Amino acid sequence: MRSLTWLVAAARLLLPAENMAEIQKQIVTVGVTGASGAILAQKTLALLEEDSRVERIHLVVTEAGQRLFAEELGISTGDLKQLPDRVLARKTTKIETLPNKDIGASIASGSCTVDSMLVIPCSMGTLGAIAGGISDDLVSRAADVVLKEGRKLVLCVRDTPFNHIHLENMLRAQQAGAVIMPVVPAFYHHPKTIDDLVTQYVCRVLTQIGLEQEKMYRWAGTPASKKAEA
Ligand SMILES: Cc1cc2nc3c(=O)[nH]c(=O)nc-3n(C[C@H](O)[C@H](O)[C@H](O)COP(=O)(O)O)c2cc1C
Repeated sequence: MRSLTWLVAAARLLLPAENMAEIQKQIVTVGVTGASGAILAQKTLALLEEDSRVERIHLVVTEAGQRLFAEELGISTGDLKQLPDRVLARKTTKIETLPNKDIGASIASGSCTVDSMLVIPCSMGTLGAIAGGISDDLVSRAADVVLKEGRKLVLCVRDTPFNHIHLENMLRAQQAGAVIMPVVPAFYHHPKTIDDLVTQYVCRVLTQIGLEQEKMYRWAGTPASKKAEA
C-alpha cells in the first residue's frame, strides 16, 4: 500500500495532468448503519476491495450497523480493526475501520482527501441526522463534510413504507447534493439468486461514484424478436 501511495505521488510530479487522471485512484468512505441489508455493505466492500481503481476505503459502522452484521450475516463485532476481514472472510488490504464515536477522525475534516461516500444501507435515523445537519457521530459528520465539500454522497436508504418525515428528509438531503438511492431491486435482468439482486443493485450504486462495473447488466432495449411475439 505504501509503495502504491509513493508511486502515485511520484507520478503526480512526473506526469502531465491529463495522464494523471488515468492513474488517480479513488478514496471512498463507506458508512454502514442499522437498516436491514448488511449483505449490501458486504458486497460493496468486496467490490471496492478488489477494484484496482480504488486506493483506500474508510469504513464506519454504527452500533446498530454492527448489530445488523450479527443479526443478518452472523458476523460478530469483536475487534473493529478485524471487522473487514470478518465481513469478507479473507485478508483485506485497503479497508481501514474508524470508530463511529471518533468525531475527530480524519474523514471528519474537509482537508482529508475523500472522493466520495456511500451510506449502505442507510437507516431512517442516519438519513434524518444527515438531512438535519446533526453531525454527532462519524457517519453523519463525514457525510456532512462530503456535502459541504461538494463531493459525491450516495444514501442507500432502506425502510418500507416511508412516512412523511422520511420523505421530507430524503428531499432535504437530495437538495443538499446527496443522491438518494433507495434499496429497490431490479428484475429486468432475470435474477435467479439473492446475490444476483444484490450485485446488480450495488453495481448501480458504484456507478454513481464513477466506478462502472463489468458485472452490471445494462438494459439495451427489448430485442426485436420479443417485440414481434408481443
Ligand atoms: C433487525 C433490525 C432491522 C432494522 N431495519 C431497519 C430498516 O430497514 N430501516 C431503518 O431505518 N431502521 C431499521 N432498524 C432500526 C435501526 O437500526 C435503528 O433506528 C437505529 O437506531 C439506527 O441507528 P443508526 O442510524 O445509528 O445505525 C432495524 C433494526 C433492527 C434491529
